[in-house]
Amino acid sequence: MILTDRLILRPARMEDLMDLHTIMSDPRAMRYWSHAAHAGTERTERYLTGMVAAVPEAEEYMVELRAAPGRVVGKAGCWRPDEVGYIFHPDVWGKGYAYEALSAILPRAFARSPDLPAITADVDPRNTASVRLLERLGFELRGRAENTFEVEGVWTDSVFLSLPRARSVSPAASIPG
Ligand SMILES: CC(C)(COP(=O)(O)OP(=O)(O)OC[C@H]1O[C@@H](n2cnc3c(N)ncnc32)[C@H](O)[C@@H]1OP(=O)(O)O)[C@@H](O)C(=O)NCCC(=O)NCCS
Repeated sequence: MILTDRLILRPARMEDLMDLHTIMSDPRAMRYWSHAAHAGTERTERYLTGMVAAVPEAEEYMVELRAAPGRVVGKAGCWRPDEVGYIFHPDVWGKGYAYEALSAILPRAFARSPDLPAITADVDPRNTASVRLLERLGFELRGRAENTFEVEGVWTDSVFLSLPRARSVSPAASIPG
């Protein structure tokens, strides 16, 4: 578990299913995701099962608010060693939580994989909130590609961003226990 000023970052568990489904079934949160909003809890359960299985080796966390613990409001981290991903419930957007979470997680992801030269992100170019977030975290634009994902019959493009190890800061948040 990691504590930041306002957040609790902790490993995923199956009990998070309904909170995660609330987020991943919301068309606003899933607008630029690589697959469609989850229609049923079975789809989220498959996704969460993968997250829980990856817990020992993944630098990926469920996010709760320290002011209102017990409800997962998002998830953030490296879903594979060299690629970051994140999603938060629209209720909590615009408060700096994604930035706060990733500022704590990214240095740990580099520390966990000492030979990793950079952490990357693949973003729909229309997702300006995500691109701005990554740029604030120090990511640099590396390239773009067309027709990278087909979501419900519509092809979308990608921009690729990268955070070189040298631009990542040292861990600042406390790790209790
Ligand atoms: C992309 C996403 C994670 C951003 O989450 P967020 O929590 O709103 O992002 P941030 O925490 O960085 O903050 C966003 C805004 O809050 C502002 N902010 C930062 N710190 C703040 C603070 N302490 N208090 C208040 N506001 C703050 C920022 O200035 C930023 O505004 P700007 O974008 O106009 O510059 C969120 O929109 C999301 O979940 N989208 C859906 C999923 C998705 O698209 N994921 C990415 C796939 S690649």
